[in-house]
Amino acid sequence: MNILFVNASPNKQGNTAELTAEFLSGKEYETLNLIDYKIYAYGQKYEDDQFDEVIAKIKKADTVVMGSPLYWHNICGLMRNFLDRCYGPIRQGEFSGKNLYFVMQGAAPEKWQLEACEFTMSRFSGLYGFNYKGMITDKNEAKKMKIE
Ligand SMILES: Cc1cc2nc3c(=O)[nH]c(=O)nc-3n(C[C@H](O)[C@H](O)[C@H](O)COP(=O)(O)O)c2cc1C
Repeated sequence: MNILFVNASPNKQGNTAELTAEFLSGKEYETLNLIDYKIYAYGQKYEDDQFDEVIAKIKKADTVVMGSPLYWHNICGLMRNFLDRCYGPIRQGEFSGKNLYFVMQGAAPEKWQLEACEFTMSRFSGLYGFNYKGMITDKNEAKKMKIE
């Protein structure tokens, strides 16, 4: 199984990466840090844009773990920007057959905030054909969730 962790935190060794490492403990996986890629905003067109490189990596994975810290009560900008950019170039169902897990943590996340984040990620998954497997928000959930 080819597992790709797409980390939307600017902190490569931060809390999102740590929680994901707990979840994926014992598994081999590759990390893609969105902070290393120039992904311009939806509507901007620049030659050095690297959105397609991220998509190519996702296409090679069987399982994708998307990780985001909570910023302003929601998914962080890097993650949201990536979702925005999928709108248009990625056809509906393009990622069918792949599983998606969502790792989300913050300093003091409230239930409604986590639910709002999960709503977005589950809708994103559904539109593009991912099999949405669930959200991990703390170490207990990371231990309980079994990766398929
Ligand atoms: C711009 C910004 C906005 C944030 N907004 C929230 C927030 O609304 N709620 C919260 O609980 N934590 C918030 N935080 C704290 C981060 O979610 C928290 O520090 C998180 O653990 C960072 O994850 P990382 O180490 O993977 O980057 C915010 C942090 C930043 C930098």
